[in-house]
Amino acid sequence: MTQKLLSLSNLTASVSGRKILCGVEFSVDKNETVVLLGPNGAGKSTVAAAIMGNPKFKVSGEIKFLNKDISKLSVDKKAMLGIFASFQNPVEVPGVTTTEMLRTVMEEKKGGFVPLDSVREEITTQAKKLGQNIWFSERELNVGFSGGEKKKNEILQMLTLKPKLVILDEIDSGLDVDAGATISKILADYQKESGCSYLIITHNMRVLKHLKPSKAVLLNEGQVTAVGDVGLVKRVEKQGFKTILSEICQEGEK
Ligand SMILES: Nc1ncnc2c1ncn2[C@@H]1O[C@H](COP(=O)(O)OP(=O)(O)OP(=O)(O)O)[C@@H](O)[C@H]1O
Ligand SMILES: [Mg+2]
Repeated sequence: MTQKLLSLSNLTASVSGRKILCGVEFSVDKNETVVLLGPNGAGKSTVAAAIMGNPKFKVSGEIKFLNKDISKLSVDKKAMLGIFASFQNPVEVPGVTTTEMLRTVMEEKKGGFVPLDSVREEITTQAKKLGQNIWFSERELNVGFSGGEKKKNEILQMLTLKPKLVILDEIDSGLDVDAGATISKILADYQKESGCSYLIITHNMRVLKHLKPSKAVLLNEGQVTAVGDVGLVKRVEKQGFKTILSEICQEGEK
């Protein structure tokens, strides 16, 4: 029997009095990959921000993780539950290295001291998979990183923290061809070993190469316009959003 990991009901979000999301509903099962698609400005990144509780947005509706309402929990608490989100534009955090940040989260999770050596050992293991130089982790988090380096650093954090639910917002943007293919494989391998679930927001289907999405959610103007399987992803790739959205609109009028 499939079990729901994340479920969103009637999710709305607004900023500066403007409604961005209007009653978004969908769910992500355990060990499932869901793709969130939609044209620029549809509200995809806002869905990720609303799930994580970005204070910029006024959010209402239900956000359930393993059947518990998490809408009022802090980002830290959500991370402790095993939710990891990588945003479209990872923020620079001057004064804190990736290693220090990861150690803090690992200690919070464990509820006690984690030796620096074991943090570095884990980072080294994961960095090897990415072909990322370990010294990136000793630099201030994302400060001066290139676009692709930031994205690889996000995956490094994910692999080190071993979350149950991974939300990736345009993880492949800025990655070179080789890195894009590598990351798709790394994501698939991590899912196999951990049974994690992915909510993947992307405009570039190459990130899905090694993954098997079972659900695609099409968002437009802050609303879920269609839910389908991998066929919907292929349709978007082939026809583009404009054609599909006008077809859906016509179907609705019949
Ligand atoms: N702080 C803000 N103030 C005003 N409007 C905002 C703010 N943040 C987001 N929006 C608007 O909300 C809408 C949805 O933005 P969002 O970033 O979620 O789109 P998206 O689907 O992720 O698009 P893309 O594919 O370009 O990343 C956009 O029209 C955007 O301009
Ligand atoms: Mg976005």
